[in-house]
Amino acid sequence: MARLLDPVLENDWHAVYLSSELKEKPIGITLLGERVALFRNSRGVQALRDLCIHRGAMLSKGWMKGDEIVCPYHGWRYDGEGRCVCIPAQPAGERIPPRTRTIAYACEEKYGFVWICLGEPAGSVPHFEEFADPAFRPLPCGPYKVKAAGTRVIENFTDFAHLMFVHQDLLGHPDYAELPDIQVVKEQDRIYIENIPIFQPVAHSGSDKQDGTTYVYRKEVFRPLSGRLSKTDPGNGQTLWILLTVSPVAEDECLVFMLVSRNYGFDADDANFIRFQDIVFDQDAQVIESQKPELLPLDLQAELNHRVDVFSVAYRRWLKELGVTVGTV
Ligand code: FES
Ligand SMILES: [Fe+2]
Repeated sequence: MARLLDPVLENDWHAVYLSSELKEKPIGITLLGERVALFRNSRGVQALRDLCIHRGAMLSKGWMKGDEIVCPYHGWRYDGEGRCVCIPAQPAGERIPPRTRTIAYACEEKYGFVWICLGEPAGSVPHFEEFADPAFRPLPCGPYKVKAAGTRVIENFTDFAHLMFVHQDLLGHPDYAELPDIQVVKEQDRIYIENIPIFQPVAHSGSDKQDGTTYVYRKEVFRPLSGRLSKTDPGNGQTLWILLTVSPVAEDECLVFMLVSRNYGFDADDANFIRFQDIVFDQDAQVIESQKPELLPLDLQAELNHRVDVFSVAYRRWLKELGVTVGTV
C-alpha cells in the first residue's frame, strides 16, 4: 500500500492503538498507508517507520532488547529516536555513521490511546476537561475496524436523522423522527451544534427508565477526523461524553477509537457500557460500509442535501476549506 499524501491529516494526531494493549512486544499499525512500528521503552511509547533501513524488513516483527527494538532479519538495533545503535555483524568498536537511522514519529499517550503524527504536529493531543474531571468516568471503547473512509464515519457522527432508523429502539424511534431547527456554529478550529433534544427509548446501558428519555445533545467536530458529543438528561443532569477519533488506514479503511465518559452509573459494570457502544457502532458500520461513493463528495451538488443535513453540509464545507484529500472526492 502506498503512502497517502494529505498535508492536513499528516500533520494531525491520530489514535492508533489501545495503550493497555501495547506491552513488551513491538506491534505494527498502518496509518495513511504508512506502516509504523510501536513499542515501549523506559522513555515511553515510541513510533518508528516500520522498515529497517538495511534490507527493508519490518521492525514490528522484531523484539525489544533493553530500550532498543531489534530488527528480526540481521539484528540491527534502533533506539526510540530511530538511530541505529548496533549492527551485530560489524567488528566490535567500529562506529556506526550517524545517518544510519530510520524515521521516528511524534508519539503520545492520552485517554487510553497511543496517538501518533506522521508529520509536524502543530501542538499536542487536544485536552478535554470532561475526560480528566473526577466527576466523570472515562472508558475506552473499540477500536472498530471499518471498511470505509474515515470521513464517512465522522459524517455519520454529525447526523441525527439516522438515530431513529439505524439505532431504532435504542437511540431513537421512528415516531419521533422530526428534528428541530439546527444551527451550526463555525469557529476557526471547530464546528458545533447544541441544545438538540432527541427522544430515546433506551439511550445507554445504565438507563433504568422503561419509557425513554429526551436527551439534549451537543456535538462538535474539532479536527477532520475527530469529534465529541455530550448527551444530557435534563431531568437529573446525567451526562455522557463521547470522544470519537478515526484513524485513516487507507482511503477506504479506518479504525475508530471511542472514549465514553459518564458522570453516573459508577456502580454499573463497564463491560455493559462497552457492549452497548459495540452494538450501536456495529449498526452504524453496517450502513457506512454500504455507502456509495466510498469517498465523501465535497461537491455539494453530488448528493441531495436536505435542510436537516446542515451539520453534515458544514462538515463537508470545512473539509474542503481545510484541503483534506484522503477520504474525499
Ligand atoms: S533487514 Fe533489518 S537488519 Fe537487515
Ligand atoms: Fe449512529
